[in-house]
Amino acid sequence: MNLDLNEPFRIKMVEPIRRTTRAQREKLLAAAGFNLFLIEADDILIDLLTDSGTGAMSTDQWAAMMHSDESYAGSPSFRRFRDSVQAITGFRHVIPTHQGRAAERILFTTLCKPGDVVPSNTHFDTTRANCEHVGAEPLDLPIRESFEPACFHSFKGNMDTARLEQTLAHVAPKRVPLVILTVTNNSGGGQPVSMANVKAVKAICDRYHVPLYVDACRFAENSYFIKLREPGYSGKTPREIAREMFSYADGCIMSAKKDGLANIGGFLCTNNDAACEAQKELLILTEGYPTYGGLAGRELDAIAVGLNEALEEDYLSHRIGSTAYLGEGIAAAGVPIVQPPGGHAIYIDARAFLPHIPPTQFPGSALAAELYVEAGIRSFEMGTLVFGKRDEQGVEHPATMDLLRLAIPRRVYTQSHFDYVIRAGAAVWKRRDQICGFELVHQAPHLRHFTARFRPVSVARKSNHQT
Ligand SMILES: Cc1ncc(COP(=O)(O)O)c(C=O)c1O
Repeated sequence: MNLDLNEPFRIKMVEPIRRTTRAQREKLLAAAGFNLFLIEADDILIDLLTDSGTGAMSTDQWAAMMHSDESYAGSPSFRRFRDSVQAITGFRHVIPTHQGRAAERILFTTLCKPGDVVPSNTHFDTTRANCEHVGAEPLDLPIRESFEPACFHSFKGNMDTARLEQTLAHVAPKRVPLVILTVTNNSGGGQPVSMANVKAVKAICDRYHVPLYVDACRFAENSYFIKLREPGYSGKTPREIAREMFSYADGCIMSAKKDGLANIGGFLCTNNDAACEAQKELLILTEGYPTYGGLAGRELDAIAVGLNEALEEDYLSHRIGSTAYLGEGIAAAGVPIVQPPGGHAIYIDARAFLPHIPPTQFPGSALAAELYVEAGIRSFEMGTLVFGKRDEQGVEHPATMDLLRLAIPRRVYTQSHFDYVIRAGAAVWKRRDQICGFELVHQAPHLRHFTARFRPVSVARKSNHQT
């Protein structure tokens, strides 16, 4: 009997969610400039904006928080946190930070200089922004299949090793201070990276004497995909697989808000003693003393427990199984999604969903708005609004793909919530021809998706798909 969809927890405390009417949602959306970031969370029914920091903690995590120690220096909470991280990753130095992007900033500030190039399978938006902030160029080298949403590939998060070799040998010789592998690849559909690819990337890095770092936000989900899909790993535990993956790296950055099962926190690990000295100095200047790094002792304890819970097989089989359930349900209704379903999210191909809306009119944002009006669901556009750019002449340059991410908070929603999302997706799909694009009327100079405001472009056309 397959228990994957059977939630491996029961509910001890409930958090009510508020129902709204369609008319209320239409009003709220218009007032928010059609940007779901600008809607109050209590006006959302199912919040799939992000899986970051939105998970439910376990009884053991809450108990650990009560046992925590808030000493400024030398806290036992830090020791438990460090031991937990080291037992999983094996890295020599563990530096706590308040979240993932702080670890990114410290890593890039200490390893990169202007003119450097940092290859990755795909940089996440904050990783990219932090890299650019120190004058280095983030270079995405995903495999070709990652640009084809409908194409099935077991490890679509893999890095293109031929292009990596070419970059290190010819494009930017001696200008690459590190290579980063993002596991799983969030910007590329939450797709996993195979162990074979990690090893191949490491071998190339070694040849050119460049350190390999892992952006480890979803290391446990990636490990479970390796167990399910890569020959030779089915008999290994997710913990053994994670340990092997980290053994090929020289360090990692991590947002504990994902596979740390915590609401806040992150860390930077390294085996480089000299870099660690500089990193701790910067940490003290901007985050806090190295035994707390911008976190409370109770948060360190929650992460120490959460990292281990994220590697439990019951948890992972439900996590990956329920994401696949949502993806398969939406796809069965006809909705085009990135295949196969990722680990933490389902990505709808908004360009294929709304082919009559040009990328310069933000089909992902238009679809996000419709899903909210239909059912009170919040999602996240990962397309032209996030990755595209408007030049000085006001010309919009679209992103490679226009995806709409439905990210699944950990241990929060049940199968009946997923069924509701599937029904909502199917309802919007049926009236897709009536949906119109957006014109951007306000944007900030950086990370514009957080504050952008839109205006609908034209009157909706009559649907041919009313069934
Ligand atoms: C792959 C990846 N890297 C880095 C980050 C940044 O982490 P944080 O939000 O904790 O700063 C995220 C957050 O979503 C992510 O998905």
